[in-house]
Amino acid sequence: MELFIDTGAVSEVEEIAAWGVLSGATTNPSLLAKEDGEPGDIIRKIADLVDGPTSAEVVSPTVEGMIEEGRALRTLHEHVTVKVPFSAEGLAATRALTDEGAMVNMTLVFSPNQALLAASAGATFVSCFMGRLDDVSVDSAKVLEEIVDVLHSRDLDSKVLAASIRHPEHMVTAASLGCDIATVPAKVLHQMLNHPLTTEGAAKFEEDWKSRPEFAEWLGGLVAKNKG
Ligand code: E4P
Repeated sequence: MELFIDTGAVSEVEEIAAWGVLSGATTNPSLLAKEDGEPGDIIRKIADLVDGPTSAEVVSPTVEGMIEEGRALRTLHEHVTVKVPFSAEGLAATRALTDEGAMVNMTLVFSPNQALLAASAGATFVSCFMGRLDDVSVDSAKVLEEIVDVLHSRDLDSKVLAASIRHPEHMVTAASLGCDIATVPAKVLHQMLNHPLTTEGAAKFEEDWKSRPEFAEWLGGLVAKNKG
């Protein structure tokens, strides 16, 4: 499962792109509305940093408006993926945009039937929102499992993207169900990074190594020799 970062904050992408784990990014109007600065600059910077698909969302309610906004958003950066909210109009816009070569992330998908329609309209990514399903007491794992089954077993080209990730357990669920991608907030990526036994283990390795001061000299010499 590939990892995208779900954010509008360039500083978060700067930090986490350096880990070498990101293949793309997703923004949405709510995430961008929290940030200072022009959305276009933010999207360009994020796309540069992740060097992969970067979703920027259309907001028009009409098919023509979505298509025009999608075309305009694509001029921002070669990695821009047009994010289109699920609706009848969104499906028509997805078909038009993908026919002209755009990557489209169909967002706000909450059921296998919606996912099937999104994939049939040519969506590159189909975003199922786990956290928001859980918020209304619908089992997100079950819905996601059905979406993976519907899209993968029919050999459709669309990738299943697990979105609205709220905690590390969502990540384990999405990965084990066979999702192609998860888009993850920085907070959850940090939670995935940390484990008390890792911290404790690293401290013990350091302490034991330092108990033999000659080892530091030996390793320093080996590094210097290797550098030439
Ligand atoms: C990403 O593409 C979605 O817009 C995002 O994951 C939604 O997350 P939320 O439900 O936490 O707002």
